[in-house]
Amino acid sequence: MSSLEGKTAVITGAASGIGRAVAQLLRREGARTVLLDRDAEELGRTPPGPDVYTLVVDLADRAALERTAGEALAHFSGVDILVNAAGVTGGGAPLLETTDETWDQVHAVNSTAPFLLIRAIGKHMVERGRGGRIVNITSSSAHRALQSKTAYGASKAALAQLTRIAAAELGAYDINVNAIAPGLTRTPIVARAFSEEALEAALREGPLANLLQRISEPEDIAAVVLFLCQPGSRQITGQTLQVSAGAII
Ligand SMILES: NC(=O)c1ccc[n+]([C@@H]2O[C@H](COP(=O)([O-])OP(=O)(O)OC[C@H]3O[C@@H](n4cnc5c(N)ncnc54)[C@H](O)[C@@H]3O)[C@@H](O)[C@H]2O)c1
Repeated sequence: MSSLEGKTAVITGAASGIGRAVAQLLRREGARTVLLDRDAEELGRTPPGPDVYTLVVDLADRAALERTAGEALAHFSGVDILVNAAGVTGGGAPLLETTDETWDQVHAVNSTAPFLLIRAIGKHMVERGRGGRIVNITSSSAHRALQSKTAYGASKAALAQLTRIAAAELGAYDINVNAIAPGLTRTPIVARAFSEEALEAALREGPLANLLQRISEPEDIAAVVLFLCQPGSRQITGQTLQVSAGAII
């Protein structure tokens, strides 16, 4: 039997990169998946099936997100797993040049949307009484003070702390809440920011370098998400796992 047979997982940012890899892996492991993203075209490339439900939503639109959370909960009659993978960088301005709009937009997607979903789906998990797993995708930028990562780093640090607080509140209901902090991972976010040569150099030297001197693939992050949703990780909660090839030690 597949390890997530009978489970339903809600995954944000499922149209691309890490979220897409997570959606594919959890589905392969037998989970029914509810996929949220604002990118209708990319989300539409998801192979259809009775075990998958896609919802196009702008996570920065609070009212739309609350409606969507209700639909996500109702479609397969319950949710066992929530993965908050959607994220935006805001373009990476230094602090003194970060606009109000960038700050608000980055926080809306990276920390407020996970809060709203954890509140809605966490409440459902508590009421249903069957436990649950919540995994938030933060970033190694939450753990180091990189220039030009003002809004992004602060929003991911907020998500890391939200992870601990949610773990503390929900532990008594058998709900594990953890985060994964990826380092450089080969997705469109990174492709937009680096040429291949610049990426190779960044992996070897400078603030983004890592011990293994190689980039992560989205599947490397998805594998750890899967682990955090399986029985083998039942004693892990409130943690941030650094999946960055040793960029942060
Ligand atoms: N790629 C990396 O190197 C890296 C490193 C550390 C952390 N992360 C984090 O991993 C997560 C996934 O990033 P990725 O690299 O796969 O990026 P990506 O750009 O490939 O995917 C992000 C997805 O989120 C969706 N999204 C963004 N804003 C949205 C909104 N307002 N409403 C709905 N959907 C929205 C996008 O449409 C996209 O499908 C993000 O939280 C990111 O911060 C990525």
